[in-house]
Amino acid sequence: GNSDTGGGGSGDGGNDKIVLGFSQVGAESGWRTANTNSIKESAAAAGIDLKFDDAQQKQENQIKAIRNFIQQKVDVIAFSPVVESGWDTVLKEAKDADIPVILTDRSVDSADKSLYKTFIGSDFVKEGRLSGEWLVEQTKSATGPVNIVELQGTTGSAPANDRKKGFTEAIAANPNLKIVASQSGDFTRAGGKQVMEQFLKANPKIDVLFAHNDDMGLGALEAITAAGKQPGKDITIITIDAVKDGMQALADGKFNFIAECSPLLGDQLMELVKKVHAGEEVPARVETEETTFTQEQAKAALPTRKY
Ligand code: AHR
Repeated sequence: GNSDTGGGGSGDGGNDKIVLGFSQVGAESGWRTANTNSIKESAAAAGIDLKFDDAQQKQENQIKAIRNFIQQKVDVIAFSPVVESGWDTVLKEAKDADIPVILTDRSVDSADKSLYKTFIGSDFVKEGRLSGEWLVEQTKSATGPVNIVELQGTTGSAPANDRKKGFTEAIAANPNLKIVASQSGDFTRAGGKQVMEQFLKANPKIDVLFAHNDDMGLGALEAITAAGKQPGKDITIITIDAVKDGMQALADGKFNFIAECSPLLGDQLMELVKKVHAGEEVPARVETEETTFTQEQAKAALPTRKY
């Protein structure tokens, strides 16, 4: 992957700085870019020496980056695991080297919770559930079937697994609501566009699109418009994240609802890094506060939106 060190110009006192190795998922979405910026800015502000690696959405790159951090004897390792499974070996290596690990944004499914100190991020199941509950409310007077297509995030990732779970559980309240097609668009605009084109070809009647992030929803807009349909009217669109471009689409009436997922984890992460480094107790889970947006709420929030 691409490595660089953040927060330059440390001068003579550089040796006293906490060294944090951070392995990022990639640069797949607007959310991810905002998250990376937040981490770099917060590290610089906190006086933490950040070694940043971009894994380009590949687990093998993340494992390599973590092994490099262990070899370099960084003080703390943080990472956002691209998928949930397959981390036990490398996490054990970090533990054996006495380097504390913090999970950021996405979680792992390791049974041994002693392999990491804490998790900071969102409740993805809740985001899916809030999306589904909004749809149940919108369609409560529908008499016939409501056909839903789902653009899933990266296969095997915590946000894809959890958002699907929360949404599916919520829509079970209305038997008219049916997911007629569901496929991964890998959290990217290009993926969202391509998979939505296939959905539109294969399904004559699509009433709702549930996209696991804004970027896939934004890609799907192009496919929907090209198919001669009006996004937000002919097809109700629900997404997750609430990054600027998504909020703009919502304010413009092209999206109908967004469940927020905050990428601004940097400050809280640096606090946890300092505590873990000092050997202080930290909570097992630190959750971000989030909300949801309708079209009217997006119009009101957009002018002051930070990302
Ligand atoms: O893990 C968070 C998810 O990853 C965001 O919702 C998505 O946009 C990003 O790619």
